[in-house]
Amino acid sequence: MKRSLLLALLVMLPISVWAAEGSVPFEFDPNLDNQASLQRGAKLFMNYCSGCHSLQYMRYNRIAEDLEIPRDVVENNLIMTGGKIHSTIQGTMSKEQAGDWFGKAPPDLSLIARQRGADWIYSFLLSFYLDDSRPNGVNNLVMANTAMPHVLAPLQGYQVHEESGGHDGESEGGHGDAGPALELVQEGQLNPAEYRSAVGDITNFLVYAGEPVKLTRASLGFKVIVFLILFTGLAYMLKREFWRDVH
Ligand code: HEC
Repeated sequence: MKRSLLLALLVMLPISVWAAEGSVPFEFDPNLDNQASLQRGAKLFMNYCSGCHSLQYMRYNRIAEDLEIPRDVVENNLIMTGGKIHSTIQGTMSKEQAGDWFGKAPPDLSLIARQRGADWIYSFLLSFYLDDSRPNGVNNLVMANTAMPHVLAPLQGYQVHEESGGHDGESEGGHGDAGPALELVQEGQLNPAEYRSAVGDITNFLVYAGEPVKLTRASLGFKVIVFLILFTGLAYMLKREFWRDVH
C-alpha cells in the first residue's frame, strides 16, 4: 500500500512538471554564464519594460555587482524610473493608471521566469501579431487577447498571423523557428535573427532576476531537510524506547 503510494507520487511528479510546461512555439535555453547577454538583457529590460513592470526583489546595485556593470553606467544608463542605485526596480506607473490604460496592471516580473519558464517568455515576446479587433492593435499567440502592447515593435516590426494558413510555417529559410504561421510584414530596426537574439537576452535577464529569490528558497529547503533528518532520528529513538518494554 505504502509502496504503491510512493510509486504513484514518483510517476506523478514528472507528469505534473511536464504539464506545467505547457506548449509554446519557441524554445530557449537560458545561459546565466553569458554575461554579455545578461548585460544586454538588463539594458533592454530597463529601456523597454521597466516603465510598466517592476522587479521588486532586484536592486540596481545588485545588478551592477552581479553583471559587473560599473555603477556610474548603471546610474546614467539603466535607471529609467528615477530610482537610486540602492532602490528596487519599480515601474513608473501606479496600479490605477495602468489599470485605466491597459485594463490590467502589468505584473511584477521578478518571478515570471519561474512561473512561466524561459520558453514561454521567449515565445511570448516573439508572438505578437497585428489584430485590428484588439484595443492596442495587436494580439499574441501565447497569451491570447493580452493587454500588453507590442512594446518591442520598433525593434521587431510587425507580424501577421495567417489563420489556419496551409502550414507553410517553416518558410523562413529552414531555421525551424520561423514560427507558427507568423509572417513579418513591416520591418523593425533589427532583422529577425537579431530580434530573436535580443529577446533571448531579455529572457536570460529575467531568468537571472529570479535567482536571488531562488537562493533563499534553496536555503529554506536545506533547513527543512535538516529538520526532517533530526525528526526522523527522534522518531526512531522514540520507537526503540516504546518497544523496549514489549520485548
Ligand atoms: C506599456 C506597458 C508595458 C510595457 C512597456 C511592457 N509590458 Fe509586459 N505587460 C503589460 C501588461 C498590461 C501586461 C498584462 C497582460 C495581460 O494580463 O493580459 C503585461 C504582461 C507581461 C507578461 C506576462 C505576465 C503574466 O501574467 O504571465 C510578460 C512576461 C511581460 N509582460 C513581459 C514584458 C517584457 C519582457 C517587457 C519589455 C520588453 C514588457 N513586458 C513591457 C504591459 C507592459
